Amino acid sequence: MSAPETRILPADADGIAEAARLIGAGQPVAVPTETVYGLAADATNGGAVARIYAAKGRPSFNPLIVHVLDLAAAEQIAVFTDRARALAKRYWPGPLTMVLPLRDDRRVSGLVTAGLETVALRVPAHPVMRAVLAASGVPLAAPSANASGAISPTRAAHVLASLGGRIPLILDGGATAHGLESTIVAVEEEKVRLLRPGPFNADELGAVIDCGTGEIEAPGQLASHYAPAKSLRLNVLHADPDEWLIGFGPVAGQVSLSPGRDLLEAAANLFELLHQADRKPFARIAVAPIPENGLGVAINDRLRRAAAPR
Ligand code: TXA
Ligand code: MG
Repeated sequence: MSAPETRILPADADGIAEAARLIGAGQPVAVPTETVYGLAADATNGGAVARIYAAKGRPSFNPLIVHVLDLAAAEQIAVFTDRARALAKRYWPGPLTMVLPLRDDRRVSGLVTAGLETVALRVPAHPVMRAVLAASGVPLAAPSANASGAISPTRAAHVLASLGGRIPLILDGGATAHGLESTIVAVEEEKVRLLRPGPFNADELGAVIDCGTGEIEAPGQLASHYAPAKSLRLNVLHADPDEWLIGFGPVAGQVSLSPGRDLLEAAANLFELLHQADRKPFARIAVAPIPENGLGVAINDRLRRAAAPR
């Protein structure tokens, strides 16, 4: 992959316009939020989301938080119950992320949710992140803007040290206010579960939950990763008659992750094609070999989990 020169621009009108331009072109851009700097890309564009993983060097695909401007935009992506809406009205914008069921007609890429049927949503308060959301006009997927395994960045200089040469732009908005990633809660029918403690303090959360009928389970575990309902065979060159073959490169298959061996494209297509394979009238799924380098490491990690005996 070519190493872009990483520019740092002040988070003024010009910087924000340039960030929105790059996001529109499918690039990830580091943007300050009130918690930590995020590496933001168009959540509706699978290739753009794949570039987040590539830049971070993430060896597996974790579901990402989707950032939107307001509750109305969030309701276009997820299904809100009265309780979820009440939480949103009281605490958004702010460092609270809610995990909610995805709407059937959502436009976010399957790579953002790592194939799950739920999505993590947050309405950030930071004026720079809000300006970038407004200027780009799309929901933004954004994990912390650091290389995989490194600590979260709270200043532009941290981002540069970790991702310099791997992303085109960092918007410098100074130090972040909280310095800690957002609190994540799963808002379910019967209860609200705490998935990740954060700046939104537990006392306050306790008060919120007391208003409803739920309880907090803390600290909760991340929901399990998407696995297809059917069995999956890996590194397949020739499918058996009862197998739906997902190809790559020279292995054509019934469909292909990427005929041109583009790992970005393959990552962007992965979860959609697995879901699709589950719906086909074939008993099993087969997948062509994927090279074990770059994003291929993360793709193979997910495929091995999906293929693991259950
Ligand atoms: O403060 C923050 O939340 C920062 C800023 C940039 O907004 N973002 C952030 O994103 O910390 P990230 O990717 O580091 O955290 C995403 C975490 C996942 O590791 C997972 O725990 C949780 O959010 N998550 C995302 N989608 C989920 C889902 N559908 N179900 C359960 N957990 C989910
Ligand atoms: Mg992180």
